[in-house]
Amino acid sequence: MCGIVGYTGHQPAKDIIIDGLKKLEYRGYDSAGIALLEEDKIVVRKKKGKIANLEKSIAGEKFYATTGIGHTRWATHGAPTDANAHPHINEDGSIAVVHNGIIENYMELKEKLENEYNIHFRSETDTEVIAQLLGVLYKEKHNLQDSVYAASKMMKGAYTFAAVCDQEQDRIVAFRKDTPLIAGLGDGCNFLASDVTPLLKYLDQIYLIDNGEMVVCTPNQIEIFDEDYKPVQREPLHVNWSVEDAQKGGYQHFMLKEINEQPKAVSETLGRRLDEEGHVHLDGISLTKEDLARIHKIDIVACGTAYHAGLIGKYLIEKFTGIPVEVDIASEYRYRDPLVDEHTLFIAVSQSGETLDTLMSLREAKAKGARVLSIVNVVGSSVARESDDVFYTWAGPEIAVASTKAYTTQLICLYLLALYIGRLNEHITEEYAQNILGELKLLPKKIQKILDHSSKIENMAKLLYNRPQVFYIGRGMDSAVAYEGSLKLKEISYINSFAIAAGELKHGTIALIEPETTVIAIATQDFLYPKMYSNIEEIKARHAHIISLVKEGHEEISQISTDVIEIPDCRDEVSPVLAIVPLQLFAYYMARERGENIDKPRNLAKSVTVE
Ligand code: F6R
Repeated sequence: MCGIVGYTGHQPAKDIIIDGLKKLEYRGYDSAGIALLEEDKIVVRKKKGKIANLEKSIAGEKFYATTGIGHTRWATHGAPTDANAHPHINEDGSIAVVHNGIIENYMELKEKLENEYNIHFRSETDTEVIAQLLGVLYKEKHNLQDSVYAASKMMKGAYTFAAVCDQEQDRIVAFRKDTPLIAGLGDGCNFLASDVTPLLKYLDQIYLIDNGEMVVCTPNQIEIFDEDYKPVQREPLHVNWSVEDAQKGGYQHFMLKEINEQPKAVSETLGRRLDEEGHVHLDGISLTKEDLARIHKIDIVACGTAYHAGLIGKYLIEKFTGIPVEVDIASEYRYRDPLVDEHTLFIAVSQSGETLDTLMSLREAKAKGARVLSIVNVVGSSVARESDDVFYTWAGPEIAVASTKAYTTQLICLYLLALYIGRLNEHITEEYAQNILGELKLLPKKIQKILDHSSKIENMAKLLYNRPQVFYIGRGMDSAVAYEGSLKLKEISYINSFAIAAGELKHGTIALIEPETTVIAIATQDFLYPKMYSNIEEIKARHAHIISLVKEGHEEISQISTDVIEIPDCRDEVSPVLAIVPLQLFAYYMARERGENIDKPRNLAKSVTVE
């Protein structure tokens, strides 16, 4: 949550920083601000609301600064107001700070600064503590980087921040703790940012900053220091994402663009892992037969949509490998003292690779001896860097807050992993594996077919967008698809929605079904089809509006439903990858009909780096 951008070079900094913040707005968008080093003073401008509000408020002003920092906020401490927006400054305004994370001991530090130094705080944020603390330390050290280093030793929690000082023109000092930070190496200019998207326009070489490291940026140099204040020598990383990848490309919303990118993304994720003979080759994973013999159970841990991918992963891995799998929500896992040891394979699933609960669960499992494998989209993210093996989803940048292509590519990674392990421990035959692989290879075309017929779903949304609630049911892997479909709908359309395993409905929840309640019944698992048929009959008897999601040609359920969505025929094992696509489109069109802010839904952020 929260996005940080820093620029130091020879161009006017304001526009570069604001442009960069717009690329990070997905990380939080309740207020934004900028601090510019104008000659001998720091000029701060900040505004509640989106970056456009900030831009509007400073449209008439001229700025000459070539160094500055900016921030887009997702509020944790203090409401989203102008006063609580970042940057925060110290008492005499000589130091400005932007911050991403939560300082756990900020109350203690605040009291100390108030009582011992008579400092008066102007905001309700924890971040102001950093600015005031740096102000006090600077008086003693007369140097920003020494002050930042000293401050970093006094704080607890997650505190990635960047600071500028009016006494040190052309210099930004930043520190990374538990939330992301990268430094970008330009030509006569250098950058700091929470992720790579603001930098793609300017450069393709970045430094990944590790936890506990401090970075000092001037126009001609980037210096990195470790926790002991020793200089770090590091090779820059080449980034191959293009600027177009991070733009809307003619679509009305990033979400629609990303839904439509799924055939390409799935094909990319698969293609990189199949050799010429069609065998699975897992780049980034070195799991041998001997390693596998030590694994007695697998824990998949993730949050939100990534957790829903994990639920499907459980079915796949247990079926293809015979190894028991537990799936857990990261915020639960990390506090339940899980039974983990060196016989556990821990799999973290995360698009951003920065979700704090997932990262902390990973650390917990690692400390207990588990082997850690991650399925991650963002290259070089914290989860990726702290894992023994990393399996990248290669979905390209996902900008819309609601995850779509990252989810489908997470599923593909789980199929490949399950097939690979299943062959390694010989739980499945080569013939069966080749059968499933054959089906996976057909998915891009089949997803495209669903997308080509999206107008049916668009028309359905035009009729249904005012429904107060939409429920989702399914059995087996379709129950996981139901959870994901329901999450997509509620997070962007704000329509009340829940999902439940269809067989569980009659144990209480069916009480909510009344005439005209909309129920989406997912029935793509052939072996569970008769069971779903009965569940749909139960709902029909209560006069609900039933939309069934079935494979092409499955007439029986269609006949008892109010409306039908079809997906191309396929084996049961791979249907979740197809079944989610119409549900993503349904959520998108429902939200669009309601006029909601689809790419940036209220109260949410793309990367959740708080607990
Ligand atoms: C919903 C969504 C979230 C994320 C969750 C985990 O559309 O995107 O539920 O899936 O916040 O994020 P990552 O995958 O970055 O760990």
